[in-house]
Amino acid sequence: MSTATTPAPKPTAVSKEQAEAVFAKGLEGIIAGETAICSIEQGGLWYRGYEIHDLAQNATFEEVAFLLLEGHKPSASELSRFKAEVIAERPLHPAVTSFIESMGGYLASGRAVPMDILRSAISILGHTDPDCQDNSGPANLRKSKRLLAKIPTIIGHMQNVIDGKAIIGRELGGDPTIDHAANLLYLMTGQKPAKEYARVIDVSLILYAEHDYNASTFTSRVIAGTLSDMHGAVSGGVAALKGSLHGGANEMAMEMLKEIMHDVGEKGIGTKAVDDWMHKAFDTKRKLMGFGHRVYKNGDHRAPILHKLGRNIATSDAKNPGGHPAIKWFELGEQVQKIMLDKKTIHPNVDFPCGMTYFTMGIPVPQYTPIFVASRITGWAAHIIEQHANNRLIRPLSKYTGEAPRKWNG
Ligand code: SDX
Repeated sequence: MSTATTPAPKPTAVSKEQAEAVFAKGLEGIIAGETAICSIEQGGLWYRGYEIHDLAQNATFEEVAFLLLEGHKPSASELSRFKAEVIAERPLHPAVTSFIESMGGYLASGRAVPMDILRSAISILGHTDPDCQDNSGPANLRKSKRLLAKIPTIIGHMQNVIDGKAIIGRELGGDPTIDHAANLLYLMTGQKPAKEYARVIDVSLILYAEHDYNASTFTSRVIAGTLSDMHGAVSGGVAALKGSLHGGANEMAMEMLKEIMHDVGEKGIGTKAVDDWMHKAFDTKRKLMGFGHRVYKNGDHRAPILHKLGRNIATSDAKNPGGHPAIKWFELGEQVQKIMLDKKTIHPNVDFPCGMTYFTMGIPVPQYTPIFVASRITGWAAHIIEQHANNRLIRPLSKYTGEAPRKWNG
């Protein structure tokens, strides 16, 4: 992992030829900026120098959130102060809650999806945040903690409205005596989760928290780079993350597994029926959700961590909404993974085990990507703070492929 010590050279204008020489569609392989927050390499993933397996094993999501936002591991007193601040900020402004309640019919009918309602709710959070127009470091940090605290409350209230239930924890934003990950599940269900379930969600939030210049983080940095505000930059990040090529893949990966299970049946797992399904998908050039990665070509370091945790809870033979024993989803998923690796040399990314794990925990599929947001808000906020603190407008060139110059009245 390189650590930049000399200041970056003053940028100089490059010639069109030089620029065209480095052109890559989708900025593939192009370094588009610097960051001290995260380093991704084929050999590893580090948040501010701490390796992801170390964090998943030994940290909590609140500690990782503090690390990403403040830049160092919190002391015991810093952590308890941080947790208290976030708990105090969990409740929503009535304008946000009434917006969510007003969307009940649209959400329940599926005409509106949770990711879009979440994006709109974050915009309303901005309208009601006294620091909204202030891009200073202290104000951005205050807004980061408010967003970190309130996004799980929005997700929980959305689920209550979809279920036609009364809002859980309206006054306090949940149960102030339980930690962040457990409170997220409590807000959605009204039940305090078993310790094992709370820890699995907690680790999934650690794994999803940050990933350098991924599409949604880069979107947030481009918006912040114009000196627009944090809520606007985060709203853009949510819109980018929704896409099925990005965060939306965790929902699509589970829908794909449900499609395969429907087509081959539980008895088809482990048989040629799954191979035939996959070969048909290959023949039709179908993108299989939860597989592949723009950067990782030898596997996503996060995927095996979450797969193992999810499989452990599935072996307790939890029953799923579909009635299939949870372990069957992992057996099917592992067969799909093996075929992808053997036939395409394509590895699963973190979204593939996420789908099976959240499904085993009974989390509704349309909430998977919103939960991704509840975690990635820490990475986005850290990058927005970093961009505002040392800004340069992000404005790349383009390669013209249109008409040659011509006269309007030619
Ligand atoms: C996330 O960037 C990040 O860090 C993102 C993320 C984060 O934490 O922020 O890690 C989170 O977004 C993970 C990715 C989730 N998306 C998916 O699972 C969607 C499915 N995956 C693919 O669409 C694809 O793998 C991408 C978009 C993730 C990456 O695609 P690239 O780098 O643009 O690679 P490509 O599409 O050019 O694929 C190269 C080849 C192609 O074959 P050919 O056309 O050259 O013959 O591999 C094939 C692709 O068809 N391929 C796939 C595939 N992924 C790549 N074939 C089938 N299924 C797939 N999933």
